[in-house]
Amino acid sequence: MEILKQLESIAKRAEEEIGRSTSLKELEELRIKYLGRKSEMTGILKKLGELPPEIRPRVGKVTNEVKEKISNLLRKKNEELSNQIFKTLGESERIDITEPGNVPEIGHLHPITQMRMEMEDIFTSMGFTIVSGPEVETDYYNFEALNIPQDHPARDLQDTIWTTDGNLLRTHTSCVQVRTMEKLKPPIRIVAPGRVFRYEQTDASHEHTFYQIEGLMVDRGISVANLIAVMKTVLKEAFHQEIKVRLRPGYFPFVEPGFELDINCFLCNGSGCTVCKHTGWNEMLGCGLVHPNVLRAGNIDPEEYSGFAFGMGLDRLVMMKYGIDDIRLFHSGDLRFLTQF
Ligand code: PHE
Repeated sequence: MEILKQLESIAKRAEEEIGRSTSLKELEELRIKYLGRKSEMTGILKKLGELPPEIRPRVGKVTNEVKEKISNLLRKKNEELSNQIFKTLGESERIDITEPGNVPEIGHLHPITQMRMEMEDIFTSMGFTIVSGPEVETDYYNFEALNIPQDHPARDLQDTIWTTDGNLLRTHTSCVQVRTMEKLKPPIRIVAPGRVFRYEQTDASHEHTFYQIEGLMVDRGISVANLIAVMKTVLKEAFHQEIKVRLRPGYFPFVEPGFELDINCFLCNGSGCTVCKHTGWNEMLGCGLVHPNVLRAGNIDPEEYSGFAFGMGLDRLVMMKYGIDDIRLFHSGDLRFLTQF
């Protein structure tokens, strides 16, 4: 039969040409030539219906066999050529598409920012409002209004960075106290987190730029008992454990009486470590009852109202929480440090 001979010839030619092909491009051309829409093979298939019915099944079967044979030959040759190409590629040019992708590293909030947000949550849950003040301040709000007049020796307690126009970078967040009292009437319950600056040599426990949270509560009959109660609650929440506090007399012109509040060093349980400098206690904040002069500066009558104020170091809070013994790490930009939080 003429047509079977033709099929045999197609198979033979295809086998020879596929065997000789040396590139994937050539192979694709052969696929089109032998199996494509305009191929000899397709022509035969199209004419299948015109054949006498008794030979149709036979021709159909052989056509399919030849088609299958050519497909197999193409596939094998394709694998062979692909393997050869893969072997000649350098290590870097090879792609394993089954390999999981690279997950890009995502940044996160700085530990001090995290702590600030946590403290804001604690204070708001206790009815305090968050307020803020400017970082470049006037002499008035940083000193005068806080009962530290010109030439008062207490000005030297905090080394100040002055601007050329006679203003300054606030040395503490206490500036926010009088700014707030000017705007709000008692009862007042605010906290003011913020960045503060000192003209200071840096060492493991001193930075020229650091963070504080100022707190102020003014109402009728506010006493040291209220101050201690609030501080204990806040610190317990911040460190997620019971905290022992100790008050020492401390001098700040804007409070009377004034205290330094220490907490027990829970990192070493009081046995002494680098964070507490082997004392078992950590200085946490300055606080006291708002001085009558400060209330007056804020247009509040000290005969009627009293209040407490505190200023805690946010950096110190983070240092205590994680046992960090060098404050300079916070601004080092060292990712080995930062990625731990
Ligand atoms: N402003 C003080 C400081 O920076 C801390 C403080 C705030 C003390 C409020 C008493 C009351 O050291």
